[in-house]
Amino acid sequence: MSTTEEALKERIKELTCLYEVSSIIVNVDFEQLDETFQAISKSLKKGFQFPEQTRIFIETNNYSSPALLPGSDINLNSPILIFNKPAGHIIAYLDDNKSSFLKEEKQLLDNVALKIGTLLERKEILENEVSLKRQMERADRLSILGEITAGIAHELNTPLANILGFSELLKDELSDEHEISRDVDKIIENTIFSREVVKKLMFFACEMPQEMKQVNIVPNIKSALNLLDASFKKSKIRYELNIKDEELFLKADTIQLTQIIFNLVINAIYFSPENGLVNIEVSESKDHIILKISDEGPGFPEEAMEKVFQPFFTTKPTGEGSGLGLSVVHGIVTSHKGTITAKNRKDKGAIFTVQLPKSH
Ligand SMILES: Nc1ncnc2c1ncn2[C@@H]1O[C@H](COP(=O)(O)OP(=O)(O)O)[C@@H](O)[C@H]1O
Ligand SMILES: [Mg+2]
Repeated sequence: MSTTEEALKERIKELTCLYEVSSIIVNVDFEQLDETFQAISKSLKKGFQFPEQTRIFIETNNYSSPALLPGSDINLNSPILIFNKPAGHIIAYLDDNKSSFLKEEKQLLDNVALKIGTLLERKEILENEVSLKRQMERADRLSILGEITAGIAHELNTPLANILGFSELLKDELSDEHEISRDVDKIIENTIFSREVVKKLMFFACEMPQEMKQVNIVPNIKSALNLLDASFKKSKIRYELNIKDEELFLKADTIQLTQIIFNLVINAIYFSPENGLVNIEVSESKDHIILKISDEGPGFPEEAMEKVFQPFFTTKPTGEGSGLGLSVVHGIVTSHKGTITAKNRKDKGAIFTVQLPKSH
């Protein structure tokens, strides 16, 4: 064969390979990227001048083609980039030290690396869309719940006030020894409890009046933790407060801020093992105050993750939890135009992250 003919044959092999790689990528199943990469390696090998002596090695953040034997000195390396960031590479090794790679083969490898990069970018975009959609659905559900709850709370507020008012009048009419007097006490007690529940529901639905002030929140946070000191001691839990600065200014309702801390810390204490450490971290970014509360407890099971902010969701035994704490926190954070997330920590425990805009 003439050299031109041979060169032509190589170009055709390379083009065939590129075409094959494109088809593999078009038909990709993102759940089975391993197979895609294996198919690409196989097809790429055939595109080289000496397929028998060429070994292809693909490595990305989540995938590494199997069995990389010690590489020969003759190799080509094309980086894989995802959104311009290095995310792996393709390496071709030539196990025949009498030959060398063609410059077109480097181009072929670069081309395939580019295609893989684009494929992985598409995967990332898709994943972001899915998680965004899920977040929006969750936000929707919570806001619908918020509206329903606000309605119920509002409807119950007046009759409860009436029950309380009339029972108190009735109690005044009765002498303390009267046996009905004790029954009336029970009515009053239970009504006050119900009113507390309604109040919490109103917090969740952001129906409570707010008093927004520009304040240094550090003393607030410290005094809230001082009040919780006894609870920590009683449960034999340690805590650590990390504050980046002695002055952190925020526009907030200070009573509601205390509520956020109380609810999150009380949960952290409840779910901590004896001698566990609860960490409270307060820091700031340019526009936000960031509050992180983490513990060393069991964290959340997968199926609870979505529900923890819903009113009445609780995993505590009956009588111990109302399932309203986190929904109140969520309501307060939302009314401050902030965000809150619940996650499991890498090793053990839960972490809540609250971000509040410094001014709004
Ligand atoms: N620090 C935590 N670790 C593990 N699970 C938690 C934690 N905080 C909250 N949860 C989960 O979220 C649920 C709801 O919490 P919350 O709204 O405060 O209601 P309650 O404390 O009355 O159960 C809890 O029952 C629990 O399942
Ligand atoms: Mg709670």
